[in-house]
Amino acid sequence: MSHDEFPTNAPAVVTCGLPYANGDLHVGHLRTYVGGDVYARALKTLGQETAFVCGSDMHGTPVAVNAEKQGVSPEEFALDWHETYKETFPRFDVDFDNYGHTHDETNAEMTKSIVRALDEAGHIYQKEIMVAYDPAEDQHLPDRYVEGTCPYCGEKARGDECDEGCQRHLEPGEIEDPVSSITGNPAEYRERSHKFFEVSAFEDYLSAFLDRLEGTSNARNQPREWIDSGLQDWCIPRDMDWGIDYPGEDDGETDLVLYVWVDAPIEYISSTKQYTDRVGSDSYDWEEPWRDEGEIVHVIGRDIIQHHSIFWPAMLNGAGYNEPRAIMASGFVTLGGKGFSTSRDRAVWADEYLEEGFHPDLLRYYLATNGGFQQDVDFSWDKFRDRVNTELVGTLGNFVYRSLLFAARNYGGTPDATVSEEVNNRIAKAVSEFTDAINDYSIRKAGNAGIRLAQFGNEYIQRNEPWKLTDADPEQARQVIYDCVQLAKALAVIF
Ligand code: 2FM
Ligand code: ZN
Repeated sequence: MSHDEFPTNAPAVVTCGLPYANGDLHVGHLRTYVGGDVYARALKTLGQETAFVCGSDMHGTPVAVNAEKQGVSPEEFALDWHETYKETFPRFDVDFDNYGHTHDETNAEMTKSIVRALDEAGHIYQKEIMVAYDPAEDQHLPDRYVEGTCPYCGEKARGDECDEGCQRHLEPGEIEDPVSSITGNPAEYRERSHKFFEVSAFEDYLSAFLDRLEGTSNARNQPREWIDSGLQDWCIPRDMDWGIDYPGEDDGETDLVLYVWVDAPIEYISSTKQYTDRVGSDSYDWEEPWRDEGEIVHVIGRDIIQHHSIFWPAMLNGAGYNEPRAIMASGFVTLGGKGFSTSRDRAVWADEYLEEGFHPDLLRYYLATNGGFQQDVDFSWDKFRDRVNTELVGTLGNFVYRSLLFAARNYGGTPDATVSEEVNNRIAKAVSEFTDAINDYSIRKAGNAGIRLAQFGNEYIQRNEPWKLTDADPEQARQVIYDCVQLAKALAVIF
């Protein structure tokens, strides 16, 4: 990895946090995927060799719990949602170079090889811990199978995450007042021996990593506080059937599976590898960004910063892989000031948006430019309408339509001329603003560079009044319209 300005000479990989294959996609999800897509396209536009990859997150209790409610197997349930996502993303022009899933062979193999590499490097050890247990059901209660109170902030939390409070990852045994989410009965804590990944041994490495890390500042700041308050090691197997089998001795397997957060980020690597398998290593070699020289950029929601700024770089470093160059963590999207909620049907659903007949570009523009990427934003149809009408229609659409219609009607296309110095300089300024914005990981600023260029275009055509020049000064009229066509082309490239 370099810290050189984009475009660099090494290949980049841009990833988006994997969606759990367990329910409909809404606009809150799309903020991250549109953000990742915009960023990856922008890098490609700058001439950076880039792969944009993602996949469905198939494992863990988020999927198992919902499959159970529907009375189907987790595999059938997750594959069904995976197919839906695979079809939905392109409808929003979120164009992954590869979209895999965590349950495929590539990821199972990659995950086991990374866990073995961590084990061989001495980063995994066995420890006795207390795990939640439901005596009525006679079963262990990993992760979302248990609910209770966060020991750090006192908010209601799930077994492995404080999703309504401080957003911390919680280790098995940490949640207070545990209640089984299967029966609603109080859960017991029972002793159990499990494998741990020694995250705490990476403290110095992680501190230095955070100093180097680029992207949004939230991805660096919050983890620094977590490091300062002491890192805990990470329990990596789970007492469940659904997941990737925990690799045992001599290539055998155990009756445990890996915690979903082990195999999920590894899909970033597996998905890149699948892309190489498809296009050939002469076109794109997955090993360059992951093992050799390259730029890894993760685009995620801010609820999963700890996984990407702490656990994941420790895993990569411990197993001999490259670290991320940047993490872009988006803020939450709320609706009327409240969080999107699938269970309360409080959301703007991806399907509904398209069924209303709206063009995906309108939402893409609004999501990409409405507030800084790391700010929480409230989704508002009024604001959406105003931004679309004022900026996309009134400024961008108006300029492009006026210019190209004039060119087509009067010249049958682009008139003969060369670009004026004024317009050439203004386009160069927009390109430089766009490049700076991408190097600053700000898709909002990149969009603004385009809108400001369109504002200039409107002002330019208005000031030069080509409609008065066609008879009085035909040469000057050609010049003005040629300039406008160049501006339209620059806008097309930037947008
Ligand atoms: O929080 C989530 O929705 C997870 N499915 C994100 C996984 S991202 C990763 F690391 F793969
Ligand atoms: Zn908390």
